[in-house]
Amino acid sequence: MSKIKFTSNVPVFSLFVLLLVVVHVFCNIVVTEHEHVHCTHEHPREDQVIRGVHIEPAHIVKKRSIDQPLRISIVYDHSVYRLEPEKFDMINNTILPDAVKFWEQALKVRKTGGPIRLNRKCPTRQVFVRGGRSHCIDSCSAETMCGEVRVPENHLNPCYVCNSTGHNCRALPRLKTRSFDEDVSTELNDNTLSNDTQVSSFEEEEVEPEGVEDTDFVLYVSAVETERCRRGLTVAYASHCQQESALDRPVAGHANFCPGELSTKYRDLPSVLSTVKHEMLHALGFSVSLFAFYRDDDGEPLTPRRPDTGNPPLDEELQIHKWSDRVVRNVTRKRWMIRGGYIDRTFHMVVTPRVVKEVRDHFNCSELEGAELEDQGGDGTALTHWEKRVFENEAMTGTHTQNSVFSRITFAMLEDTGWYRADYEHAAPLDWGRGLGCQFAMASCKQWLNAQRLRRKNPAPFCERIKGNPLRTECSPRRTAVVLCNLVRHDTILPRAYQHFDVLPNVPPGDEAHYGGSVSLADYCPYLQEFTWKHKSVLVRGSRCVYEENTPKTDVNFALENYGQHSKCFDHSDRVWEQKSCRQIREWQHWGSGCYKYKCESGRLHIIVGNYTYTCYHAGQVLQVRIIKKGWLHKGGVVCPPCKEMCAEEFASRREYCKVGEEALPPNLYPNDVLTCGVPALSPAAILLSSAILLSVLRVL
Ligand SMILES: *[C@@H]1O[C@H](CO)[C@@H](O)[C@H](O)[C@H]1NC(C)=O
Ligand SMILES: *[C@@H]1O[C@H](CO)[C@@H](O)[C@H](O)[C@H]1NC(C)=O
Ligand SMILES: *[C@@H]1O[C@H](CO)[C@@H](O)[C@H](O)[C@H]1NC(C)=O
Ligand SMILES: *[C@@H]1O[C@H](CO)[C@@H](O)[C@H](O)[C@H]1NC(C)=O
Ligand SMILES: *[C@@H]1O[C@H](CO)[C@@H](O)[C@H](O)[C@H]1NC(C)=O
Ligand SMILES: *[C@@H]1O[C@H](CO)[C@@H](O)[C@H](O)[C@H]1NC(C)=O
Ligand SMILES: [Zn+2]
Repeated sequence: MSKIKFTSNVPVFSLFVLLLVVVHVFCNIVVTEHEHVHCTHEHPREDQVIRGVHIEPAHIVKKRSIDQPLRISIVYDHSVYRLEPEKFDMINNTILPDAVKFWEQALKVRKTGGPIRLNRKCPTRQVFVRGGRSHCIDSCSAETMCGEVRVPENHLNPCYVCNSTGHNCRALPRLKTRSFDEDVSTELNDNTLSNDTQVSSFEEEEVEPEGVEDTDFVLYVSAVETERCRRGLTVAYASHCQQESALDRPVAGHANFCPGELSTKYRDLPSVLSTVKHEMLHALGFSVSLFAFYRDDDGEPLTPRRPDTGNPPLDEELQIHKWSDRVVRNVTRKRWMIRGGYIDRTFHMVVTPRVVKEVRDHFNCSELEGAELEDQGGDGTALTHWEKRVFENEAMTGTHTQNSVFSRITFAMLEDTGWYRADYEHAAPLDWGRGLGCQFAMASCKQWLNAQRLRRKNPAPFCERIKGNPLRTECSPRRTAVVLCNLVRHDTILPRAYQHFDVLPNVPPGDEAHYGGSVSLADYCPYLQEFTWKHKSVLVRGSRCVYEENTPKTDVNFALENYGQHSKCFDHSDRVWEQKSCRQIREWQHWGSGCYKYKCESGRLHIIVGNYTYTCYHAGQVLQVRIIKKGWLHKGGVVCPPCKEMCAEEFASRREYCKVGEEALPPNLYPNDVLTCGVPALSPAAILLSSAILLSVLRVL
């Protein structure tokens, strides 16, 4: 049992009790949830992708087992070197190496038996395949682009051409590759060659170009402020640009960093890194433009190929290849509950075998048909991400809101491309919706909210507390952060399918149609979200318990919170926190939960508030806090969660158990600091202290 102090050494100072005033303190700090920037993975159009990159014949590739750890080669475009030094440094030394390493460790491919030599772009769409190689008609384009980047000459195959009837196929003589130089290389077009170059540059005999050795994927990286960068708050975007011929695996792709949106702030690193990993995955296979090329475990296409083109059917309008329903299927739900009734809703679901298994396991719902794809956000977001409502903080959803993780479900998707094996050890646990069953995974959020209300159970991860002033915070389901319900009033009436409330407290009838979560991609379902405190648009602190720097400054730390390692979120009791000096009482208008250190000892959970350790004897017990700090008496309550929830794991490793309240609660359960205010007998120290407090009051007010 830890020792409990019952007295305090804090100096007690005296002023007239008559001067007491009650002040309601609203924080002068603005709360914002994280920005909702949609990923716009504008899938490459048909004419931006080159297929049929010959590395080895299909019958050889198919027989290989998938056991080669993925090797990604990064190739910089000039523009990367023009970045400001800190930005270059961050990309070159942190972001790219970390992101590349993550996928290299997480994924395996079939060994690539030779260097990757990319195909040249043809001026026409039609190509002839001869001896496993693509041939352009008559000539190749002067340059071959991969996204914003021009592919270096020495990464390219010779220019293979046939005449327009598919005869007379040959490799055009290749220009000697001088030391590669982008600026002069436009001259490599036959038409613009001077006599001089022609004479000196043709190779005497055919030499194989170098290609890129010892690699499975070439990523061309640029950093140009493109139109797409300016359109949103896009940090980076990426896609594949070439696929090999045997199994259609993407072997080259491109990523562009948007210099203007790139933050080098330490705090933003995790989200930039997560974005770059996310973008790389679009290039490696998670893209609507690749669904039609996915293959089964035997390397056979999941979508039948057209005999004439050898490719899956092309959707002319969207310029992408259409997939079969072995990859993505339409699933219609009858009786999808919304405000005032039911509708039919149709969803696109990934139905490949591993994905189906993983989502069923995740939600504990054996009837779930597959993993739902995003249907909002337009081209670039829809279909090419997981549905935000269903997979909230999964990193492959279309917008980053909090704590994003690459889960087993995304890893399963990569395996179901037929190109990769994933090491699930590198997947991160996804808490959202875990084990909540079909009633969560197959129903609307309105239906889930209703059902939980009837069962008198917590509706988490959805929520129904309107975000307002005063703020009422809550704890994230795993107690890792103080969170807010993002339910707000929208200016416009939400589309009918996204209206989730028949009634809301203090909302006039009819006005409910304006209320919904703040994240549109999540179908406006309200859910618990981490947030940041801002003051005059400067970020003051975040709401994650684990970061020490999130602890409020002393003069505003009314609930005596303490962030850092081994700190978790605990609910406050229903009473407003009060801070009392001899002159003033402050009632804090926003409260609800806070981060505190805790320990698991002697079969019990202990929560540390201020300098006191409080012992929890049963779940729901309210720890009455009365602590004097810097002349202020802090009064409030912290609610004990079940010991098992907090300590079961830690105890299990020590063969200990949570005690069930078999002993009587001790008398003097809670330490109780007393604020003594008497007739002035002020010591100089006390005068200094009280004036300091007044100053701090003024600052807060
Ligand atoms: C970029 O990173 C590579 C590999 O980490 C390193 O060898 C190289 O020196 C870096 N370049 C610069 C200019 O810092
Ligand atoms: C293509 O080449 C074949 C054989 O060399 C020839 O018969 C045919 O006329 C050529 N077609 C054209 C359009 O040049
Ligand atoms: C190439 O050389 C020939 C004769 O030597 C000359 O007539 C012709 O104009 C030259 N062409 C170019 C593009 O310089
Ligand atoms: C699936 O639904 C979309 C619209 O939601 C429709 O355009 C498409 O044709 C449907 N596909 C099938 C196979 O029914
Ligand atoms: C999964 O759901 C079933 C009921 O559908 C329930 O009996 C079982 O305990 C659940 N398992 C987990 C791990 O939540
Ligand atoms: C709380 O404890 C720490 C160290 O245990 C000490 O430095 C600090 O002065 C204490 N604060 C109060 C208000 O008692
Ligand atoms: Zn994306």
